[in-house]
Amino acid sequence: MARMRVNGQALEFALDPATPLLWALRDAANLTGTKQGCGGTGQCGACTVIVDGSAALSCTLAIGTLEGADVTTIEGLANHPLTLALIAEDAIQCGFCLPGFTCAVAALLQQSPRPAAEQIDALPNRCACGMQPRLRRAIERVAGAGAPEPS
Ligand code: FES
Repeated sequence: MARMRVNGQALEFALDPATPLLWALRDAANLTGTKQGCGGTGQCGACTVIVDGSAALSCTLAIGTLEGADVTTIEGLANHPLTLALIAEDAIQCGFCLPGFTCAVAALLQQSPRPAAEQIDALPNRCACGMQPRLRRAIERVAGAGAPEPS
């Protein structure tokens, strides 16, 4: 059992406390925008969500450690300036990496509205389709517009 807020909504997961947040979100809350890429080993970033304002790998977080946490998934970022910038830059191919990328960058922009290139390069999220240059342009578009408001 674990209670938390997800995209502004109070949710109670009646699951084993060891259940990874990734699977609680996907299977119990039907928030399937969050993806598993690397098999839950914490290496690919596809499962990134925002937990209490910071990017977090949902495949590595047991829900039992998240009592009272505030979680944002890609579904909660539909109107985020970054999402709109990604659309404007046509920075989407297969889309599999995009939910995790969007959450990771949205958290970064909250903490650092004009991130340095090194901060962007340090993100674990990579696009296997080769969209990295467009993803970077989307970040620059939002950073150039100033700090995004939380959505
Ligand atoms: Fe790859 Fe979580 S699924 S880091």
